[in-house]
Amino acid sequence: MRQKIVAGNWKMNKTLEEANILASEITGMVADEVKGDAKVIFCVPFPYLLPIKNQLGNNGRIAIGAQNCSEHEAGAYTGEVSAPMLKSMGIPYVILGHSERRQYFGEDGKLLAKKIDVALKHGLIPIYCCGEPLEVRESNGHEALVKKQVEESLFHLSADVIKTIVIAYEPVWAIGTGKTASAQQAQDMHAVIRKHIAAKYGQSVADAVAILYGGSVNAANAKELFACPDVDGGLVGGASLKSREFTEVIKGA
Ligand code: PGA
Repeated sequence: MRQKIVAGNWKMNKTLEEANILASEITGMVADEVKGDAKVIFCVPFPYLLPIKNQLGNNGRIAIGAQNCSEHEAGAYTGEVSAPMLKSMGIPYVILGHSERRQYFGEDGKLLAKKIDVALKHGLIPIYCCGEPLEVRESNGHEALVKKQVEESLFHLSADVIKTIVIAYEPVWAIGTGKTASAQQAQDMHAVIRKHIAAKYGQSVADAVAILYGGSVNAANAKELFACPDVDGGLVGGASLKSREFTEVIKGA
């Protein structure tokens, strides 16, 4: 059985004070109310990684992650943050390839393969995002595109390594729009991704990979989405910024 994961992607939101309050509220609610053993990850803006990590202390339920890292290990790259820096701060997870990074910062599959490699080299666990824009879905190209996104950034990895990656399927048309994929649409795409991994690496490797769904996950739809056999939890944006709502999402896992 794969462990369920619920990752909150805070994106570029909250002041430090607000971030501290949000983290402490969720931590309290999870401790008091959440029965299941889903892993929770707060993917916070870079400046809040250490304060929130320190606040969490040795909380075994909730881990911390970054939202991006550089493809370079060090050097003259003003404004960038490297995988070795994250590692040195004790940050275990990093989101890579979020559709906002692809869309606004021109990140493509080749660059993301480099980021995946540098993250893995330094012992970080990538949460690799893939997903199709609306026009691709409407022209029925979603399966082919998502397979390609997985191939071009992950299929150079060995079987032992790809097993350790977390994949997040996030249809771009569902991100921040309030328009969630139906449970059936999510399950279908997750099965496509898992089959694609199985075809290259074998079923046992594919069965080990955690595949999260992302795109307007909220308290009302989380349970149904997370109950799908190939959906191993969620990557949650808007709903992760509200402590009550996010706690309810976690309860759905
Ligand atoms: P959303 O964002 O939950 O606000 O749609 C998800 C994401 O971008 O990871």
